[in-house]
Amino acid sequence: MEKRVGILTSGGDCPGLNAAIRGVAKAAYEMVPGLEIVGITDGYSGLIHGESKAMNPSDFSGILTLGGTILGTSRQPFKTIREVGEDAVDKVESMKANYRKMGLDCLLTLGGNGTHKTANLLSEEGLNIIALPKTIDNDIWGTEVTFGFHTAVDIATEVIDRIHTTAASHGRVMVIELMGNKAGWLTLYSGLAGGADVIILPEIPYRIEYVIEAVTKRAKMGKAFSIVTVAEGAMDVAEAEMKRKYRIAMREERGERTASERIAKAVGAQTGMEARVVVPGHIQRGGSPSAYDRVLSTQFGVYAANLIANETYGVTVAINAHRVTHNLLKDVAGKTKFVTPDCQMVQVARNMGISFGDEIR
Ligand code: F6P
Repeated sequence: MEKRVGILTSGGDCPGLNAAIRGVAKAAYEMVPGLEIVGITDGYSGLIHGESKAMNPSDFSGILTLGGTILGTSRQPFKTIREVGEDAVDKVESMKANYRKMGLDCLLTLGGNGTHKTANLLSEEGLNIIALPKTIDNDIWGTEVTFGFHTAVDIATEVIDRIHTTAASHGRVMVIELMGNKAGWLTLYSGLAGGADVIILPEIPYRIEYVIEAVTKRAKMGKAFSIVTVAEGAMDVAEAEMKRKYRIAMREERGERTASERIAKAVGAQTGMEARVVVPGHIQRGGSPSAYDRVLSTQFGVYAANLIANETYGVTVAINAHRVTHNLLKDVAGKTKFVTPDCQMVQVARNMGISFGDEIR
């Protein structure tokens, strides 16, 4: 039976998106006779505005190692998806209408948590949806790992390694701010891989006196430098009690925009050591996927092609205990997979003497 399949990438990009697109396409062309693939440009924005292009098998060649996404992406916040803005466009109705106008039998959405919420909404509205979990944050519920995460861990680890040598040469405290607004997986894994002395995560509110204690303890042991890795969404114990807008206002008042700036300022002032902030930013999301992510993206893509062939919709691909599987979108949408303070990986780090800034070590 012939099929017309739409595919879009939404939210922050990450390495492995093109590898996953390639995996789906190559396998689906094998499995589904007369398959046509429609590339929807710039995420849900393309679906809302009816912007798409017919893809050919050759479009999916030579993209395995390519960073970013050949389809383009954008952020379309879920919380305003039902709002009709000044342009008078009803986004949900437009997406449904364009899905039909494009003659799609199903739509593949590659994205993170926000993408999954909209994917579930579209599924509830009657569209045939298959999602694939991508994000460097690794915070999608129901899958042990998302593609993009391990490449970002590799990049962040390399940053930490390079900072390590210069921190040691100069005897500085280097505070490295890594991506992760809500979930700290990237900071936890790369902090462990890079031998950080302190790891600060959004899920484990810190006390600045404990961070200072960890740095001072090292100095007393003759280690004149320290590496402090901080997830961008980290908060101290008082901030964790505040609403986001008060937290932001309070930081602005103090001239400290981020947790890493707060930490560096306080550590510098109270230890007399030189403390610097390093923010690798979007470097963590750029460039070619690692071998791990190429394999994972391909596994997810091929699994998604099977879902297309079997007409299994309303689902998102996942991997658990080394087996690729799927979960229902309605079970995943709106949930975040956080680092739990008592998880094994946090315990491993604590056993290595790493401080999370939440206790005296
Ligand atoms: O969701 C992935 C992520 O990389 C987060 O870790 C980060 O907070 C966010 O995207 C930043 O994305 P952008 O700058 O593209 O809005």
